[in-house]
Amino acid sequence: MRVAVVGATGAVGQTMLEVLRERSFPAGEVVPFASERSAGRALDWNGAQLTVAALADDTIQGFDIALFSAGSGVSAEWAPRFADAGAVVVDNSSQWRMHDDVPLVVSEVNPDALQGHNGIVANPNCTTMQTVVALGPILRHAGIERVVMSSYQAVSGTGQKAIDELHAQATALIRNEKLPAPSIYPHQIAFNVLPQVETFKDGDDYTTEERKCMAETRKILGSDEVAVSATCVRVPVFTGHSVSANVQTRDELSPEACRELLAGAPGVTVIDDPANALYPTALDAAGRDDVLVGRIRRDPSHERCLNLWIVGNNLRKGAATNAVQVAELLNVRGLLRGRSPVSS
Ligand SMILES: NC(=O)c1ccc[n+]([C@@H]2O[C@H](COP(=O)([O-])OP(=O)(O)OC[C@H]3O[C@@H](n4cnc5c(N)ncnc54)[C@H](OP(=O)(O)O)[C@@H]3O)[C@@H](O)[C@H]2O)c1
Repeated sequence: MRVAVVGATGAVGQTMLEVLRERSFPAGEVVPFASERSAGRALDWNGAQLTVAALADDTIQGFDIALFSAGSGVSAEWAPRFADAGAVVVDNSSQWRMHDDVPLVVSEVNPDALQGHNGIVANPNCTTMQTVVALGPILRHAGIERVVMSSYQAVSGTGQKAIDELHAQATALIRNEKLPAPSIYPHQIAFNVLPQVETFKDGDDYTTEERKCMAETRKILGSDEVAVSATCVRVPVFTGHSVSANVQTRDELSPEACRELLAGAPGVTVIDDPANALYPTALDAAGRDDVLVGRIRRDPSHERCLNLWIVGNNLRKGAATNAVQVAELLNVRGLLRGRSPVSS
């Protein structure tokens, strides 16, 4: 199987290469793509040196799968071209997520949505991804009427340049040096908390990230009846998003029953012994693909509401791992174009 990784030099793209290797994805050949700036650069992968290619009509031919993480503009232009050339695209950008004919898939939650894809499949944004992995089992068991989510999002969610910005500001502060001016975020991010993730567009008082969380959560859960309200906040953490979710169920669900339900759910690990300071933290998500849930408790203001603390690795399950899991599903379910499943 030939696999293209578009955006291979970026924060998500590098993680996709790692995850393909770790999961022994049955790729006969992997070709990394990035911008013209990186073309020709060598990347170490699985004991081999891969050469970064630039996107062009002749370089995109003959792929079975193309994993995209190069931003919406690149996906808008190049995902349909890869699909026309025979690949199935799994796209990490927001470009195609809300299109009616593009499945928006989280491997544990709605894998059947892949059936009948038209060559492009979308990965949700990282905050939605980890939240729906925990909400899916609750929806199936007790129904969900409303979710109020507040996120605490790491800078790697913005990409490599934001990681560098936090690092440079934190280093300057600790050395008592003059801070470099913020260029990625509107304010200093080191030792600060910003109630803005992405932008306020067209006079909207919700950010584009908050709008995505609300719309994508409903699309993945397959239910327009689930009301969702989101506040997204950027915190000075390198990797690992945290979400506080207040979940109003249709049927009664006790904290104990919720804990048991989530402990048996795919892709979820429950860490919930607060008396012993055991609950998930952003650092716990390092290197992990499972979504960590703790602080499961009754909302004292509502008999059918629970509060949950949900932590996930935004670069892995929030982006790269889910993309590779979707690629695995496409392969084993025979949903790649003109190809039977490949096992090694
Ligand atoms: N970071 C996350 O946690 C996360 C989670 C979910 C989804 N996403 C989405 O994934 C995408 C990438 O995010 P990231 O965090 O990996 O960003 P990043 O670190 O800034 O990486 C961007 C990648 O895109 C490449 N690229 C830029 N312009 C290009 C062009 N014109 N043609 C081809 N390649 C181009 C870059 O190549 P060069 O190195 O050559 O510039 C780089 O490989 C975004 O759409 C983002 O919304 C990110």
